This record gives sequence, structure tokens and C-alpha cells, in this order.
Amino acid sequence: MANLSSSFLGIKSPNPFWLASAPPTDKKLNVLGAFEAGWGGVVWKTLGSQVKNVSSRYSAVNYGNKRIMGFNNIELISDRPLDVNLREIRECIREFPDRAMVVSLMADNDRESWHNLIDQTEQTGAHGIELNFGCPHGMTERGMGASVGQDPEIARMVVEWVMEKATIPVITKLTPNVHSVVPAARAVVEAGTNGLSLINTIQSITGVDLETFDVRPNVGGQSAYGGYCGPAVKPIALKMLHSLSKNPVFKNIPISGIGGISTWQDAAEFLLLGASNLQVCTAAMKHGFRIIDDFNSGLSNWMDEKGLKKIDDVVGLSVKKVTDWEKLDLNFHIVANIDQDKCIHCGLCYIACEDASHQSIQIEKGMPYNTYTIKEPECVGCNLCKLVCPVDNCITMVEQRVAPEYLNWPEFQRRGMKLNDH
Ligand SMILES: Cc1cc2nc3c(=O)[nH]c(=O)nc-3n(C[C@H](O)[C@H](O)[C@H](O)COP(=O)(O)O)c2cc1C
Ligand code: SF4
Ligand code: SF4
Repeated sequence: MANLSSSFLGIKSPNPFWLASAPPTDKKLNVLGAFEAGWGGVVWKTLGSQVKNVSSRYSAVNYGNKRIMGFNNIELISDRPLDVNLREIRECIREFPDRAMVVSLMADNDRESWHNLIDQTEQTGAHGIELNFGCPHGMTERGMGASVGQDPEIARMVVEWVMEKATIPVITKLTPNVHSVVPAARAVVEAGTNGLSLINTIQSITGVDLETFDVRPNVGGQSAYGGYCGPAVKPIALKMLHSLSKNPVFKNIPISGIGGISTWQDAAEFLLLGASNLQVCTAAMKHGFRIIDDFNSGLSNWMDEKGLKKIDDVVGLSVKKVTDWEKLDLNFHIVANIDQDKCIHCGLCYIACEDASHQSIQIEKGMPYNTYTIKEPECVGCNLCKLVCPVDNCITMVEQRVAPEYLNWPEFQRRGMKLNDH
């Protein structure tokens, strides 16, 4: 059986799944429940200066039958007293010494405050610190959270203060509310952070109530931009993760992947694109702590099937499979194929291909149903029909190279080759 044990920056945990800094990690009762359920570690809900939360504070995007495809919050950092949090952290470590205890911090914007907070945190016996440079609401108005993460020079300065004091590993959690995460990541790595984590939440408005015109979440008729997370943000998180893992600057910097991990398959994808640790928030808030059983068994079975013995064997295996667009092979060509035995004759593929401009599906009118076949010479292999088809594996894409050699766009132009007329 695959070995799921993890050592991220030397912080050991029986599996790579940590609960991200959020409500599930905001008090002893929750964290003990998570550890009993089998979570490898937690990042304690962010500690810092005094805050007060509003009601309501969560909102979601439902899509079709799926509830909470995307989740949004206007919650702030921990609103419990600092001394209570610190005592409870110490007690959790004592009860579960084999689990990772990382504490998320967001101090006021001065060296003294950071040093004080780090000192008090280290006295609990915590194994690591995560710097919250990402909270997109509430704290930003006070120059903290995403305001730090969005400005590489401020982020560098804060990490320098932190590294002067910290004696345990420091993870810097990046904000996705930027054009590219690379400049801030580079600055904090140069300032000495030991590891990185991404992503924090994406600034969002989840919706408007068409009866009352109130924007969600509604706080007495008013709302505010919130932080978006959950399954909907996974593609954005994976792209940002890849932009770091492909970059030689971050070669020796371990990355904790966060953002929409809801199944063991999602977790495997984050590992394949370069994360060596995984953090989860929305899925645990929606399904409860027991979801860890599915994560552990699914990931371990898949690793066994693939002959991957330990987490490090998985990390980064797919990083090189993403390149720049102009390096893609213009001679690689696939066409769609419809399995007539599986087809339920709904015509969705035909409508999509017709109206999305390729007109590559032949319709043969018939009773009681029409028959659909692919006009192979016309098909550009775009995948659209496969994506809309409601029957799994009814439409498959078949490789049909028109030339064996690799040809990229710069070479295409250099040879003065003709454009086609699709
Ligand atoms: C209600 C809520 C509160 C959160 N509070 C914090 C926080 O205090 N500190 C922090 O770094 N991230 C916070 N986050 C962000 C999560 O740690 C995580 O980065 C984000 O939710 C993406 O992961 P997910 O898609 O698995 O939810 C919060 C998220 C939610 C939903
Ligand atoms: S792959 Fe694209 S072009 Fe080809 S049949 Fe399907 S929708 Fe049409
Ligand atoms: S979408 Fe799928 S099931 Fe429907 S007609 Fe096309 S191939 Fe058949």
C-alpha cells in the first residue's frame, strides 16, 4: 500500500491533507474532531489584531443540481481572544503530537507586532507559521492581508521581519487577486520564506436576489466583495500552482496546494502539478471531517495502481506537460468518433457543432430518431461535441496525424505555410 506520510518543510503528518486556515480550524473542539477523523494536520484560523465579524457572512453559487459549486465569505480572521487561541493550540498539540500544527498569522503592519505574535505562537509548540497575505476583505482596508500580498515590496519587507524572528518553518500564503502570483512569490522567497501556499480566496460577488435586489451575502441590505473558493476555483488555483512549479526560481521551495480540493482526484492533480502538501477548506465545511477517509483511500489506491510508492513520487509529474502555446504541435490532429451503440440520439452534439461554427456532424433524418455521424475531413478536433454529449464515452477523440513531424507556430510562419479555410 502506498505510503501517504508527509514531511513538508520537515513538518511531519501521517497524510498530506491539512485543513486550511478557516472556521474548521478556529478552535480546539473543531481541531480535535478533525484529528480524530484522521486529518494529517491543520493550519489554525488566522490570529492577529482584534476583529468583529458580521452576520450574514457566507454565500454560494449553485449550478444545476450542484450546491456550493463556488463558496464566498466576508469573514475576517479569528474573532476569539488571542490568549484563548494560543492555549487551545498548545492543548491540541499535546493531545495529537503526531499531527501537523501550523498557525496562520496576520499582524499589524509593523516589525514589533509581527515579532510579538511570532514569539507567542512559537511558545505553544506549533510546528510552523503560515503568513496570511491573502484575506481579500476587511483587513485590506487596514493595510493587511491581500494589500500585503498584492505588493511584492511590502510582502518582501514583512517576510524579512518574520525571518528575523521565526525559528520554525515559515509558509507564505499567496493571494490570487493579482495578474500573476510570480512577482510576490519571488519577493518572499528572496526574503527567506521556507515554503509557499496558494491560493487564498478570489475577490467576488456571488449574486443578487431578484426579489429584493439585495446582493449576497446580505448584511442589512448591504454587501461587500467576498472571497471565492470551492470547486469553482480549482482551475485557477492549478494554473497559479503551475506558474510557480515550472519556474526554476522556486525549484527548492515546497508548495502547499489549496483551492477547490473536493475529491482525492483533485488532490492527485495538485500533487501532479507540483504541490507536495494539500489544504482543504470548503469540502470539509460542506461534507464534514469524514471526507478525509475518501481522500486517503482514493489517493492511496490510485498510487498503488500507478506504482507510485510515496507522495514525493507523485509531486510534479505533470509539470512539463504544460508549455507555451507557440510550442504546441500544429501537426497533432484528432477527430471525433460517435459510438452508435451508446448514442441516445439527443442531437446535442449536432447543435453544438453546427452553431459553434464547425458544421462537422452529419444528420440523417429518420423515424423514430435521427442518426448522427462525424464528417471527419471537416472535424477540427475541438472536443465540443464530446463535452456536451450526455453519455460517457459515447464520443471519443481519435488521433489522426496528418504529418508525422512536429511543427510549431514559429516554424509554420518561417516556412510561409498557408492557413486553412475552416
Ligand atoms: C469562511 C472562510 C474563512 C476563511 N478564513 C481564512 C483565514 O482566516 N485565513 C486564511 O489564510 N484563509 C482563510 N480562508 C481561505 C481558506 O483557507 C482557503 O485558502 C480557501 O478557502 C480555498 O480553499 P477551498 O477551495 O478548499 O475552500 C477562509 C475561507 C473560508 C471559506
Ligand atoms: S470535435 Fe468539434 S468540430 Fe469535430 S465534430 Fe465535434 S464539435 Fe464538431
Ligand atoms: S450528444 Fe451524444 S448521445 Fe446525443 S446525439 Fe450526439 S453522440 Fe448521440
